Amino acid sequence: MNNLSRRNMLKAGGALGVLGAFAAAAPARANPWTWSPSGSVLGSGNGADPLTVWDSEADPLVASLLDRGDVPKVNELLRTWTKNGQPLPNGLPADLRDFMERARQLPDWADQGKLANAFRFTEKRGTYLGVLYGFASGMMSTVIPNEARAVYHSKGGAYMKDRISKTAKLGYDIGTRNAYAPDGEMIVTCLKTRLVHAGVRHLLPQSPYWTAGSPENTPISQNDMMVTWHSLPTTAMRILRKWNVPIAADESEGFLHSWQLSAHMLGIEDQYIPASWDQAESQAVQVLDPVLAPTPEGVALADLLLNLGAQLDLTLLSRPVLGALTRFALGDQVANWLNIPREPVWSPLLEVAWNPYIAVREGILPLPMAPEAYWTFDEILRQFVLLYMSELRPISIEIPQTNRPR
Ligand code: HEM
Repeated sequence: MNNLSRRNMLKAGGALGVLGAFAAAAPARANPWTWSPSGSVLGSGNGADPLTVWDSEADPLVASLLDRGDVPKVNELLRTWTKNGQPLPNGLPADLRDFMERARQLPDWADQGKLANAFRFTEKRGTYLGVLYGFASGMMSTVIPNEARAVYHSKGGAYMKDRISKTAKLGYDIGTRNAYAPDGEMIVTCLKTRLVHAGVRHLLPQSPYWTAGSPENTPISQNDMMVTWHSLPTTAMRILRKWNVPIAADESEGFLHSWQLSAHMLGIEDQYIPASWDQAESQAVQVLDPVLAPTPEGVALADLLLNLGAQLDLTLLSRPVLGALTRFALGDQVANWLNIPREPVWSPLLEVAWNPYIAVREGILPLPMAPEAYWTFDEILRQFVLLYMSELRPISIEIPQTNRPR
């Protein structure tokens, strides 16, 4: 069966049989969990396999909010809570308020100096980060089976544009000068997302579509969280290195630090958060690289993402260009899994001209190459920023109360 007909089956609601077949082939961890907590920001830990750990504080709390029917009221109250330093709104259930007051505190390893370096990094490299988060990480998420299945079968899977806006907000907030300061928004965004994830852990096991295809009984384990985390900063850093973008050591460390903090604020245990890029790399080799695989849900989500630029009339972000960029950034195997054809003009152009273009842009190569290609690549970067920004209308991240509507 080709992927198109699988997708049609999903749409037609005939998903159970197909998903069952995929689940049998779902890659499990090839080897036992060996990444040592001595390489984490904490430097120690019990070493439990993160496949068996979720969020012991937020999960029962949000499950109880859903069962008590408190979520609509909570969502409404939290809509007004937008700044890190802002007091929580009055009227929240006491157990939620207690949790949020604790969970909004930065860990004692937060380092303002490193965060200042992180901002310098974003100022210099923000243009690339737009493409990398928005596209490389976004497309990669469609070949992370557990994430693709969770996203597709949760409520947001039916409203992908809206969901992408919410994720873009996190990518934007983390790059602001005051991300974790009282007038910034990153702590709020992370903490609301932590509550959303806890809600999803309660809701998805009630979806027959999700349970039929998932190797997990409860979604979004600590392992899943780290996989997705690596699809963001680790993948961005890998690609920047592949493009030979020069990055100062303190800025690279700062960039990592801003993501370490986000992991903590999202409820990832400190014992799993890598302390250095070397540690991140060693963990990614264990948790990210081996799990990448196609699923019908991921193929369907990728199909939506490839149409996003065209919908916004960003002419250079047409489906063929986005497809060629996916192949270029994530490789032939991923592109083939997603049924993205090799593009006759764009694929060779990117392969030949992209790295020299970066070198010229970075002032490493003195002579501009063919000016037309140079201009085109510049314009692609610019349109990515537009795409990204266009998604940033006022956005409220809210706890879902249902799975994907059918
Ligand atoms: C929701 C980011 C890990 C599945 C969200 C939201 C953000 C976000 C910003 C709120 C947007 C919304 O409500 O749609 C992240 C980050 C992660 C991460 C930064 C890791 C560092 C994961 C993982 C999974 C997952 C590992 C699944 C395996 C979901 C789902 C929703 C969600 C299903 C809710 C969609 C809905 O029904 O509205 N995530 N996420 N996330 N996330 Fe994550």
